[in-house]
Amino acid sequence: MAEEREYVLGTGDDELARLGFQHAVWGGYAAEAWEAAGFGPGQRILDVGCGPGYASFDLARLVGRAGHVHGIDLSARFIGHLRGAIEARGVGNMSAEVGDLVTAGLAADSFDGAYARWVLCFVPDPEAAVRAVARALRPGGAFVVQDYSQYSAVQIAPEHPSFHRAVAAVVEAWRGRGGDPHVGAALPAMMERCGLEVTRIRPISRVGRPGTAMWKWPRTFFDNFLPGLVEGGLLGAEELAEFDARWAEWERLPGAFFVSPPMLEVVGTKR
Ligand SMILES: C[S@@+](CC[C@H](N)C(=O)[O-])C[C@H]1O[C@@H](n2cnc3c(N)ncnc32)[C@H](O)[C@@H]1O
Repeated sequence: MAEEREYVLGTGDDELARLGFQHAVWGGYAAEAWEAAGFGPGQRILDVGCGPGYASFDLARLVGRAGHVHGIDLSARFIGHLRGAIEARGVGNMSAEVGDLVTAGLAADSFDGAYARWVLCFVPDPEAAVRAVARALRPGGAFVVQDYSQYSAVQIAPEHPSFHRAVAAVVEAWRGRGGDPHVGAALPAMMERCGLEVTRIRPISRVGRPGTAMWKWPRTFFDNFLPGLVEGGLLGAEELAEFDARWAEWERLPGAFFVSPPMLEVVGTKR
């Protein structure tokens, strides 16, 4: 059995569930990007850093039986989950492999399109990753990326220092594992250097208000991730308690809101 390679947020049951909920909240934005990039029936699409494959199944429905979706992810656990779901649902146009997208040796000119959502922000050398994906695309194929361009600019209202403290600890842990929570801003220039013509740059910003799925989205992230930061010494236990107490207040406060960390959607087409 392959050794499990966990990214900074882990690959346990909580993360598996969080990613599923996250896709339910963000899937519409993915579909819009795929349409803008011309993804459609009969194509071969690579789902880069597919995780447990929540977006991969939507892509497989989009390309239909004449097309194919291939997922690649570092995590043997996530890929095991995806393969199990492919088998259980009897889906014939999907495959998945465990691997590092940078070193996996994806076959050249073999995909009509590729999609990476919240993956490049965790890769220590995102330019090498973009180059590997660009190589795997056929000329004219599109690489669609949705990723944070300035994670630290996430906002909550009313403001409170405990929120910024928690976000700073998240960013420190993330960078400590070689990721870049601002990677989106560097992507267009990176794509151009890797032989992709940037055909679309779209900022994405969303608001969540208590009681909505968009409000619950960051909470599921903080629930999963902050306790580990306390164990790792990046956040004090009392700081986490203060954060939780404030969150409970915001939850009950008419007019409280959350603004998602600025994201960019970037599409690059292979020359
Ligand atoms: C936040 S999850 C996003 C999963 C999926 N793209 C989605 O939007 O639901 C990030 C994923 O990137 C994967 N990942 C990180 N670095 C990778 C690499 N170098 N090669 C392949 N997968 C990677 C992680 O294992 C994890 O499953």
